[in-house]
Amino acid sequence: MFSSSAPSSLIQALRAETAELHVALEKRLPFFSEHLDLSLYQRLMAAYYGFYRPLERRLHAPALGTTGLDQSPRIKLPVLRGDLVALGLDEAAIDALPTCQRLPQIDSPAAALGVSYVLEGATLGGRILRRRVAEQLGLDASSGAAFLDIYGELTGRRWKDFLQFLGDRNLGNEQMLEATRAAKATFICFESWLDSQEVLL
Ligand code: HEM
Repeated sequence: MFSSSAPSSLIQALRAETAELHVALEKRLPFFSEHLDLSLYQRLMAAYYGFYRPLERRLHAPALGTTGLDQSPRIKLPVLRGDLVALGLDEAAIDALPTCQRLPQIDSPAAALGVSYVLEGATLGGRILRRRVAEQLGLDASSGAAFLDIYGELTGRRWKDFLQFLGDRNLGNEQMLEATRAAKATFICFESWLDSQEVLL
């Protein structure tokens, strides 16, 4: 009967459950550290790659296509790979990069939405990060910093569309729990992976 209250509560739940994890991770990422140099940036992007590679593969597995979200324009790995090439890694070196084994479980469409929320939300800081990396390292989209601002001018539009998509889902309590659990796990797994790769402050 009150289904109009359900859509906003999914995004509210995702925000409430992950806000602290976002703050904690943001603080530890070295983008604004005075120690950010090309070598650290390259290692950081290689570590991002090691997380996004297996996670996107799982997220976009056909069995999960049932979320109904068209993931194809949201696939980020090729851009990240392009950055690594621009930063001087050859294809063989990229293929040999370590990949994260401890990933969030994506065992339902709701969990896939929770993971997508984190990966889509991560594009929102793009403009800030793009400016920082340009100022500190002189990099732009053609020289190794395309991933950070991957949607460029489309960022706001894509995020709005994603929120609309979430808003149109009518998830029950159990599914909401699956989604928030997966979103939290994504933050936690990402932070611990980056930590293991020694790229965090
Ligand atoms: C230093 C790095 C980062 C900066 C500066 C940053 C900055 C931001 C900013 C400015 C927003 C938009 C806030 C708003 O408009 O209300 C945002 C949202 C968000 N970010 Fe980040 N972020 C960073 C890293 C990350 C990472 C690594 C992830 C996940 C892997 C992430 C996930 C999210 C999510 C999920 C949201 C959406 C929150 C919402 O529901 O509105 N961010 N971030």
